Amino acid sequence: MHKYFARRPWNVFSELISHYSSPDEIILDPFCGGGVTIVESLKLRRRAIGVDVNPLATYVTLMQTKPINLEAFQQAFHELGKGVEREIESLYSTKCVKCGGAAVADWIEWDEQAKRIVRLKYNCASCGASREKPPDRSDNRLAEKIERDFTQTVKQKKLWFPRTQIPPGDKTNSLLNQGINSFHELFTRRNLLSLSILLKQIQKIEDKEARDFLKFTSSSSLKWASRQSHLRGQIVEGWAMHAYWIYPKSLEINVWNTFKRRTNAVLRGKKYSNEHIGNFYRTARNFDNLAGGKGSCLILNRSASHLPIPNESVDAVLTDPPYGANVNYGELSDFWYIWMSGGKPVPKRDEVIVNRTQRKTLADYEGLLHNVLKECYRVLKPNSYLVSTFNSKDMRVVASFITAASRAGFALEPNGFVYQKPIRPYVTTFHAMQIGAFVGDFIFTFIKAPKFSSGLRTIEPNLQKVKSELTGLIELAEKGDMTEPLLRENAYRILIPFLATQSQIDIRGCREAVDFFETKMREHELYFKNLRRKITEKRRRAFRKKRKS
Ligand SMILES: C[S@@+](CC[C@H](N)C(=O)[O-])C[C@H]1O[C@@H](n2cnc3c(N)ncnc32)[C@H](O)[C@@H]1O
Ligand SMILES: [Zn+2]
Repeated sequence: MHKYFARRPWNVFSELISHYSSPDEIILDPFCGGGVTIVESLKLRRRAIGVDVNPLATYVTLMQTKPINLEAFQQAFHELGKGVEREIESLYSTKCVKCGGAAVADWIEWDEQAKRIVRLKYNCASCGASREKPPDRSDNRLAEKIERDFTQTVKQKKLWFPRTQIPPGDKTNSLLNQGINSFHELFTRRNLLSLSILLKQIQKIEDKEARDFLKFTSSSSLKWASRQSHLRGQIVEGWAMHAYWIYPKSLEINVWNTFKRRTNAVLRGKKYSNEHIGNFYRTARNFDNLAGGKGSCLILNRSASHLPIPNESVDAVLTDPPYGANVNYGELSDFWYIWMSGGKPVPKRDEVIVNRTQRKTLADYEGLLHNVLKECYRVLKPNSYLVSTFNSKDMRVVASFITAASRAGFALEPNGFVYQKPIRPYVTTFHAMQIGAFVGDFIFTFIKAPKFSSGLRTIEPNLQKVKSELTGLIELAEKGDMTEPLLRENAYRILIPFLATQSQIDIRGCREAVDFFETKMREHELYFKNLRRKITEKRRRAFRKKRKS
C-alpha cells in the first residue's frame, strides 16, 4: 500500500509467529518498520506491540492494520474526483495525434540535462488511443507556462507544499552536490501544483477516517510523482532505490492518474486487512489497555531503547533490526514525512545505524542496538524467545548484532541460526539472478535464559580452530566454484556459534576471528568478482533463452 524500505517476506514472519507463540499472546517488534510482524501477528490473533523511532514507519504500520469502511472511502474518493480531477488533468492536457481531439498525458519524459520534453504517453478520451508521441509546440508551451506562473498560482490558490531544506546526510549529500537543496526540487512544478491541489481538497473531506486514508493514498503516490521516476524499457518505475537519484531521463507522471492507481492499491490492501484482521484490531493506548484486553495493537513512535512496558510481560520478540549502514531509513523517509509533518524532517538522533554524517560508527551502532536488545530482555518473560532476521554481507556487522544480543543477556539457541531460502517470486526476478548478495534470510533464535546457559556453552571455544576451519573453507571455495554468498553462509555456521559463546567473555577473540575472516575475503575479492561475472553471464544467457521459448 505504501513504500517502506526493506520489507521482510511476510510468509517467513507468519511461520515464525505461529511457531513461537499462541493466540492471544503478546508479541513485540521493537523495529517494526513497515509493519510486517504486526500485520501477521494480528492476522494470527496475537496481540501486538510495534515500535519504531521513525514516524513514517509507525504511520504506515497503523494505516495497514486498522480497519476502514471501504464504501465511505470510495465515496470520498469519488467526491474528491469531482472537485479536482478536471483541474489537475488540465495541467497535463495534450492533443491526440490520431484524431486531433483533446487528450491527457499519463507521463511526460524529460531530458534532465537539456531540460526538454522527449516524449509523452497519453490517453485520448475521444478515440480511445493510448500511445506515445514527441512533444508538439503546445506541449512545450504548456510546460513553460506552468513553470512561469508557478509562484503566482501557488499564491492565488493558497497552496501548500513542504519547502524543507535537504539536511546533509550520507544519502542526501549527492543531491546537495548536484545543487538540489530542497526536497520540493525533486518534483517538477507541474507535479508540485497537482499534489498540493490534491492535498488541499483532501483536507476538505469531512469523514475523518476517509480523509486519513486519502492522505495515506496521496503519500503513497509520492514515490511515483517525483522526478526520480523513470522508464525501464517499457516499464514505468517509481523511486525504488535505497538512495536519492534522478535519472538522466526522468518521468513526470500524471499525479491524478497515479493517485487513482494508488487508490485501487489501497482499496485492495484494505479489503485484505479488513478480511484478515478486521475487528480484531483495537487500538491500545498503553500497555495496560493491551494486557487488559481492551486493545489488541499498541503502536509506539519512539526509540525502543526505553519502553513503557513492565518487566517480564511480553511472550515473544520478533524483529528485523537495521543492518549497519544497509538502509538509511531516516534520511530516505524524509522524502515522505515532510509532507505529513508540516515540513519537519524525521528525528534521527536515536536511530540505530552506521552513518558518517550522524557520526555513528559500527561501535556506536552496536551500542545503540544493545540498548534496544537489553530493553527487549527486560520486558520478555523468562525462557521466552527473541527471534530476529539479520542479513549483512559484512561479518563485522553480524558480529555486532550477536555481541549486542549476548551482552544484553540473550543466549543463541543450539540450532538458533537458520538460513531461510528465498521465496519463489523473489528468485525468479532478474535481480536475484545477480550473484553477490544473499537473497534469503538469516534467522537467529535467542532465548532469555535465566543465566546464560545455552547448549552452545558446551562447545569448546577455540580461536585457532575457528581460524583453521575458515582457511580450509576458503580453499575449498577456490577449488569448487563456490560463490561468495554460499561461502559466507558456510563461514557463518563456523563463526556465529563461536561469537555467541565468546562475546560475553572474550570480545577481543571475537573481533580477531571476524577480522581474520574479512581480511581473507578481501584478499580474494578479485577471485569472487570474476566468478560472479562468469555465473551472471551464464544465467543471463539461460534467462534469455527461457524468455524466448
Ligand atoms: C529493517 S527495518 C524493519 C523492516 C520491517 N521489518 C519491515 O518489514 O518493513 C528496521 C527499522 O528499525 C527502526 N529503528 C532504528 N532505530 C530504532 C530505535 N532506536 N528504536 C526503534 N526503531 C528503530 C528503523 O526506523 C527501521 O524502520
Ligand atoms: Zn484521439
